[in-house]
Amino acid sequence: MRVLVVGAGGREHAICHALSRSPRLEKLFAAPGNAGIRSIAECVDLSVEDLTGLADFAERERIDLTVVGPEVPLVLGLTDLFRERGLRVFGPNKSAARLEGSKAFTKEVCRRHHVPTAASRTFDSAAAARAYLEELVIFPTVVKADGLAAGKGVVIAADREEALAAVDSMMVGGAFGAAGSRVVVEEFLEGTEVSVLALCDGKTFAVLETARDHKAAYDYDKGPNTGGMGTVSPSGNVSAELLRQVESSILLPIVHAMAREAKGFRGFLFAGLMLTAGGPKLLEINVRFGDPEAQAILPRLKSDLLDVLDHAVDGRLDEFGPLEWDPRAACCVVLASGGYPGKIETGQPIHGLKDAEAMDDVIVFHAGTAEREGRIVTAGGRVLGVTGLGATTALARERAYAAVEKIRFQDAYYRTDIGLKAIEAGR
Ligand code: AMP
Ligand code: GLY
Repeated sequence: MRVLVVGAGGREHAICHALSRSPRLEKLFAAPGNAGIRSIAECVDLSVEDLTGLADFAERERIDLTVVGPEVPLVLGLTDLFRERGLRVFGPNKSAARLEGSKAFTKEVCRRHHVPTAASRTFDSAAAARAYLEELVIFPTVVKADGLAAGKGVVIAADREEALAAVDSMMVGGAFGAAGSRVVVEEFLEGTEVSVLALCDGKTFAVLETARDHKAAYDYDKGPNTGGMGTVSPSGNVSAELLRQVESSILLPIVHAMAREAKGFRGFLFAGLMLTAGGPKLLEINVRFGDPEAQAILPRLKSDLLDVLDHAVDGRLDEFGPLEWDPRAACCVVLASGGYPGKIETGQPIHGLKDAEAMDDVIVFHAGTAEREGRIVTAGGRVLGVTGLGATTALARERAYAAVEKIRFQDAYYRTDIGLKAIEAGR
């Protein structure tokens, strides 16, 4: 099969890496890809937002299957355009992508289908949001921009003043542009966070192995939130019983709701959950694979990813047997540019990549990299995701850090505690 992967990050490198293991793969393209993806796919200079350009390319190159990595093209309607043109594409349509594109929409779906989530109110005017907050007695409370805000649109407000300031910055100050013209104010939930991912074919779904993200920039969850500084799989805190509960109380009603209301959810569904005293509750939905969750989960997938996606894109996941997994654990440590998630410098040469890549049970995924004059240089905040595999999480972690220590670039930084909580939790 001729396959196109849309995206340029570590997640897309992990997807390309898994696809490239398939005997059914004839030719792999990535748009726009990165310096690591280039070693296994032909990179095409098209932006993920150039929907027409991507569809033209897929037609011209007779692409059999397109796999979409990031949320932006999904929310913009990439898959709708592809399907109109008879192109096979794995990713939700624009209507189903509202699950990530609009937090208010997801809250409505949860209400209609009795999915456990934080109690919330949606506001279209700053005055109404302010009036509500003036009366609210329980703090902290959570203020969320409705639309896509690159993971930055959530404020946990300790008191009324902070909540009002968040509303003003989003709704009056335009901190997130149109994404903040509507806000959701919701109950603050206490508990442990977990992510559960599923692969959906429009009708049914297969739950993937669990992973635990590390969102804060620095060790022991200090510092600003990032896109994710590392992951381990399995997450260590989700029992088989809890997973079944999440499947039946959260994933199933959402997948069914989308089948009835949005012509089906076809793609990766990522549910961010809080394990509260009252059971698991939905925090957010992403309509794509997690980054860096993909860099820890996909190296453990033993089933042929291309084969399973080829079934799922036609709504034939039921004909595919259960997904098979490597029983080993995986640990992915992200190397970031100094200053990330704030201001960063790019163009720094990266040293030691070959030494790290040569290690057994190590995969170096590129996220923000580029090739300049034959050298690999930094090109983004998150630069690399280094995954180690091992019989236990502790061994996978040792492997990943041994590889990380071989890699150097100016002002590189990484967390040194990735996986420690999962190890404490029992595996
Ligand atoms: P979201 O983008 O909705 O996942 O929010 C980003 C992060 O904010 C989550 O990963 C949680 O750590 C936190 N968060 C979001 N909603 C809540 C909530 N209702 N209660 C507590 N923490 C929350
Ligand atoms: N790692 C979290 C995300 O992909 O949104």
